[in-house]
Amino acid sequence: MDDASALYLGLISGTSADSIDAALVSFDAGVPRLQAAHAHPWPTPLRERMLALAQDETPLDLDAFGRLDVEIGGHFADAALELLELSGTSAQEVRAIGSHGQTVRHRPSGEHPFTLQLGDPSVIAERSGIDVIADFRRADIAAGGQGAPLLPALHAMLLGRPGHARVVLNLGGIANITVLGADGSVYGFDTGPANGLLDAWCLRHRGEAFDRDGAFAASGRVDPGLLDALLADRYFTLAPPKSTGREHFHLGWLSAHRQLATANPADVQATLLELTARSIAMAIDQQAPGADEVLVCGGGVHNGALMQRLGELLAPRTLYSTARHGIDPDFLEATAFAWLARQRLLGLPGNLPAVTGARGARVLGAIYSAPAIGPSTRTLSGAS
Ligand SMILES: Nc1ncnc2c1ncn2[C@@H]1O[C@H](COP(=O)(O)OP(=O)(O)OP(=O)(O)O)[C@@H](O)[C@H]1O
Ligand SMILES: [Mg+2]
Repeated sequence: MDDASALYLGLISGTSADSIDAALVSFDAGVPRLQAAHAHPWPTPLRERMLALAQDETPLDLDAFGRLDVEIGGHFADAALELLELSGTSAQEVRAIGSHGQTVRHRPSGEHPFTLQLGDPSVIAERSGIDVIADFRRADIAAGGQGAPLLPALHAMLLGRPGHARVVLNLGGIANITVLGADGSVYGFDTGPANGLLDAWCLRHRGEAFDRDGAFAASGRVDPGLLDALLADRYFTLAPPKSTGREHFHLGWLSAHRQLATANPADVQATLLELTARSIAMAIDQQAPGADEVLVCGGGVHNGALMQRLGELLAPRTLYSTARHGIDPDFLEATAFAWLARQRLLGLPGNLPAVTGARGARVLGAIYSAPAIGPSTRTLSGAS
């Protein structure tokens, strides 16, 4: 199997932990093309355990931690195997799986910065018979970077337009932007919360995993006092490079604001949506004043109320889904991990130091080999 015909499979569950997204990807002159995709839902009790763990201060003993790593790995393997079956693809056609895992803690600053993703890659390799590349973020952190975001390089490749300044906005659990300069420059950072807080508040007060189309938010009114208090968070004024996660923007963070005590739930949802839209618009105003288009990917693109508010705040820029350029907004991240797996096998860097703040470009990820006998008899070079 030569590299030109090889397929790669990307796997990620993001900060929303809504599903494991799996993407089967081919490459045309190094540019990834999505061939098939599948979202593997998490069982609700496991999702709730993972979300609780990702919030700060949730105690977990080492035994439970070890078991959880393997359990999550099993679901990642399921996601990969389901996609192979659904697309009629054999394991032998896939050169490698790039698995991001599930982030349970991301602390890129401080004396001993670290980031932690669970989902034992050995389990995925054993069950699929395919080599797995995983642990994509730690080399960047070891080099002084944030370990995130890792998508901007791919955004530039797929959505950059020479001579034209654009922003790519990913509305995941956390929102991040990639600024594509007219001169070919690329940088990006996490702007702050997006679906993570909206989901958590909706689950608590509506018992639903997410606020479909932003209807709950649309039924309330923005609370100006609460909004100002939330916008005063230091993260919003930090200069990039910066990244964040659920360990900072979670329900405990929200509850710490005294204005919450008297607000009604629908108004809080409306305020969280406004917080998301405002913090993104501020970041774009400050960091990408020359851009006249904002291309949106990630699950938040389906939240009509959020998209409408963003469109108002970002006008006269145009705001639209990456689908307009033939890029499925729900599987761009999974595609990125297929691309990162290929970069690893080719010995090419995956990070952009201008984005993450790392000392230099780094080859990201470690290889977990498929068993030489059993499900697969492929060698490490990929010959079948
Ligand atoms: N129809 C919809 N209406 C409102 N929100 C939606 C809809 N569909 C998806 N979403 C939101 O999108 C979220 C999932 O988005 P996505 O998978 O991009 O986030 P993620 O997994 O956290 O990714 P990231 O790694 O970028 O943080 C859901 O949790 C939900 O909040
Ligand atoms: Mg997701």
